[in-house]
Amino acid sequence: MTDSPKHLRVSSHERHTVATQLSSAEAKVAPVAAAATLSPDPSVQLKMRARGLAVSYGGKSAIRDVSIDVHARQVLALIGPSGCGKSTFLRSLNRMNDTVPDVEVTGHVELDGEAIYGPQVDPVLVRRRVGMVFQRSNPFPKSIFENVAYGLRIAGVSERSVLAGRVEQALRHAALWEEVKDRLDESGLGLSGGQQQRLCIARALAVEPEVLLMDEPASALDPIATAKVEDLVAELRDELTIVIVTHNMQQAARVSQRTGFFYMGRLVEVGETTQIFTRPRERETEDYITGRFG
Ligand SMILES: Nc1ncnc2c1ncn2[C@@H]1O[C@H](COP(=O)(O)OP(=O)(O)OP(=O)(O)O)[C@@H](O)[C@H]1O
Ligand SMILES: [Mg+2]
Repeated sequence: MTDSPKHLRVSSHERHTVATQLSSAEAKVAPVAAAATLSPDPSVQLKMRARGLAVSYGGKSAIRDVSIDVHARQVLALIGPSGCGKSTFLRSLNRMNDTVPDVEVTGHVELDGEAIYGPQVDPVLVRRRVGMVFQRSNPFPKSIFENVAYGLRIAGVSERSVLAGRVEQALRHAALWEEVKDRLDESGLGLSGGQQQRLCIARALAVEPEVLLMDEPASALDPIATAKVEDLVAELRDELTIVIVTHNMQQAARVSQRTGFFYMGRLVEVGETTQIFTRPRERETEDYITGRFG
């Protein structure tokens, strides 16, 4: 383990633990500016880290011995061939795998230095701080407004004016506001594919997560919608920590500061994106990025 523990001690706010949040009677939504209290040099700040992480489904190993640091206010891209465990790893960062039957997760994952698999930790609170956007946009069969307000309502926000403000803010954040502001009461299902994906991003942003996990968020989109999502990722990085899975290596190169290459359930290599794409250390990484397999 090369990281000094001091990197985890960022500020009193950041040390606010999942467990502490659990004991708070008030339904607490973490402020979006949380990461802004970190040091100005984001490259040395850890937001999350995994150590010796292994996941199996029904006794069959999907990922093993994954150790990786997720730097605050950076984009970490995860690449690798289909079935190598990228989504499995991503879901283990916000305990989404807990919802899969017969799953077994071993190893250690920290968020701001706190173990997210700790016995006292509520996975719902972890998921509020570590949001997720999926490959296929999945709006609920509700209005655009209610899609975005959904997580806020669950968090106990019910006042219409507060909801309206937060919904607008999230839609603006997701670069969708101008396109939908006059049709907030229409169904989210009536939007185009690219708009639906941004709606799902707005829904994830509405609860002001500190980390956003994105699993191939642009793979079903046309180039224009893809560019919008990529622009959004670049903007969100000012406030959020992002981990994005992509099959598109140009996309990884465009949007990320660090890249990790998975192969057959292992993290083969992780480093600065430019290094991974120009001077990979491992032969398997080189073979993959040069198109020799995968
Ligand atoms: N819910 C599940 N139940 C059982 N096995 C699963 C489940 N999800 C994933 N797996 C298995 O775990 C392994 C890793 O799958 P995962 O979806 O993480 O790969 P991936 O790298 O995201 O692939 P892709 O690029 O195709 O999305 C695969 O062997 C897959 O069959
Ligand atoms: Mg996947």
